[in-house]
Amino acid sequence: MASRLRAETTPQNLQDQLSGWYAAHRRDLPWRRTRNPYFIWISEIMLQQTRVAVVIDRYQAFVSRFPTVQALAEAGEHDVLALWSGLGYYRRARMLHQAAQFVVRNLDGQLPRTAAELLQLPGVGGYTAAAIASIAYGEPVAVVDGNVERVICRLAGWDEAEPKGSSAHRRRIEQMASRLLDRTHPGEWNQAMMELGATVCLPRNPQCLVCPVASGCQTRGEHKTQPRARMLTREVAHAVVERRGAILLERRPAAETVMPGMWQLPLLRPAEPPRDPPLLTVRHAIMQVNYRVHLHAVAPADINRLTIAGGERRWCAKTDLAGLPLTGLARKVLTKLGKLTTHAPAARPRRLRSTP
Ligand code: ADE
Repeated sequence: MASRLRAETTPQNLQDQLSGWYAAHRRDLPWRRTRNPYFIWISEIMLQQTRVAVVIDRYQAFVSRFPTVQALAEAGEHDVLALWSGLGYYRRARMLHQAAQFVVRNLDGQLPRTAAELLQLPGVGGYTAAAIASIAYGEPVAVVDGNVERVICRLAGWDEAEPKGSSAHRRRIEQMASRLLDRTHPGEWNQAMMELGATVCLPRNPQCLVCPVASGCQTRGEHKTQPRARMLTREVAHAVVERRGAILLERRPAAETVMPGMWQLPLLRPAEPPRDPPLLTVRHAIMQVNYRVHLHAVAPADINRLTIAGGERRWCAKTDLAGLPLTGLARKVLTKLGKLTTHAPAARPRRLRSTP
């Protein structure tokens, strides 16, 4: 196994090639038009495990509703989760909210300016700290996310499928990232590396013919890849129960590991599949599971057929739906069924009426 860059490849060569490419090809994304550390922080947390296309809208809605760290700190968790709905991994939103409160209470409302200090915030790990510090403050620290790791492994000819948890492998990648870092423009460099991994040096079909650093790359498409994670398939059924312009929702228990406290359409008991065909069937992936989700109309008189996930059930006026922390699936199907027309939550969600 080769263990270094090609002999003719220097950090300076790579920096020239990649920076020129990034200047010409970078995607015009809203968080790239600012150096405001708070905005960059929000974008970096949203971008973890969520596609850029999904993040764009949600980022704009979030920063217009909470334009400062103070506004976020003062918000109720319910409102923060409502703005996060559809992004998944809701723990990130809770930690972000707690971190904003920490900054206001303990740091005079000022975000720390170095990666080392940013690490003290809840939900901020090495990757996020380096991204904020380099992009907002120009600190010369290298970002290593999954995309950068893949780019470096291929450039250096290292096995991408090396044991993921190996700390020696991780250290080697971090050292190489640090060696390659453009210390005069660290924020741009880090984003260029991430952009290359996201748009050219793709996991399964790298676009080596258009890669700006192919001449310095040890592998150029000849690499082993991680096997694709095996997805499980599950069928589930939810109920659409309507009464006088309101729709029945249930709340996931606070103790759930996935999406605790979020609102969803009530689940139907698996043992009692409805006789009528579903109103709608959609596919929805959550982590390693592909769901086929059937939506059935259920009359209010039949609500005892429903499995109640959290014990708490509410009738929600359709006009209030957008202001609720809905699960991504609930948001998707309510939109498809024409019950929910906007992503932007209402200014202040109204109180919900309780079930009879
Ligand atoms: N992925 C996460 N953050 C990013 C950024 N700032 N630029 C490109 N890709 C990213």
